[in-house]
Amino acid sequence: MSKTKIASKIPVYPMPVIILGANVQGKANFLTVVWLTIVNFKPPTIAVVLNKGHYTNKGIHENKVFSVNVPSTEMLEITDYCSIVSGHDHDKSKIFKVFYGELVSAPMIQECPLTLECRLVKTVEFATHEVCFGEIVATYGDEEILTHERPDVAKIKPILYSMYDNCYWKMGKSIGRAMHVGKRFEPVK
Ligand SMILES: Cc1cc2nc3c(=O)[nH]c(=O)nc-3n(C[C@H](O)[C@H](O)[C@H](O)COP(=O)(O)O)c2cc1C
Repeated sequence: MSKTKIASKIPVYPMPVIILGANVQGKANFLTVVWLTIVNFKPPTIAVVLNKGHYTNKGIHENKVFSVNVPSTEMLEITDYCSIVSGHDHDKSKIFKVFYGELVSAPMIQECPLTLECRLVKTVEFATHEVCFGEIVATYGDEEILTHERPDVAKIKPILYSMYDNCYWKMGKSIGRAMHVGKRFEPVK
């Protein structure tokens, strides 16, 4: 199959959509985020890439905590709303039922089936963005999304986002277990 060099330099993969929360001057604010990755298992740490101009960043720096909330496909409209309006000029503090955990000031979303409560451990500036590293201190999940006490992605029904078409997608079916299906592969000798 021949390759065509295409103009796009957008990363290729579909990414899970999350809603990141932080309190800014005592009020909860939320924004939609897809640039998020795991960076370490012990201590469990994630990194999220935020444009420096966002309102939520103020709260992350103020309180040194934030929440990572995983919305389900039923929450598509409210999730996208968090990307359309900014806390700079809209109050997003009442759009969700908010609860707090052991870090006290990381606002977490009751409606989201899965939430990570994070302590800011480091920020790294890169051009127009900053990378916020957060240690996960606690995870909260609805009982309905657990299978054998573990979060079950089929029950969470996460929203996926593709930058190529600027569209949200939903997950398909599992097609095999990682580090298992490859055992059937036979390399050409
Ligand atoms: C699907 C989607 C994903 C987004 N992901 C990010 C992201 O990873 N990082 C970021 O800085 N902004 C991202 N944004 C933009 C913010 O959600 C948006 O600018 C938001 O209004 C900022 O809110 P705030 O100013 O209240 O913090 C994304 C927007 C959309 C639609």
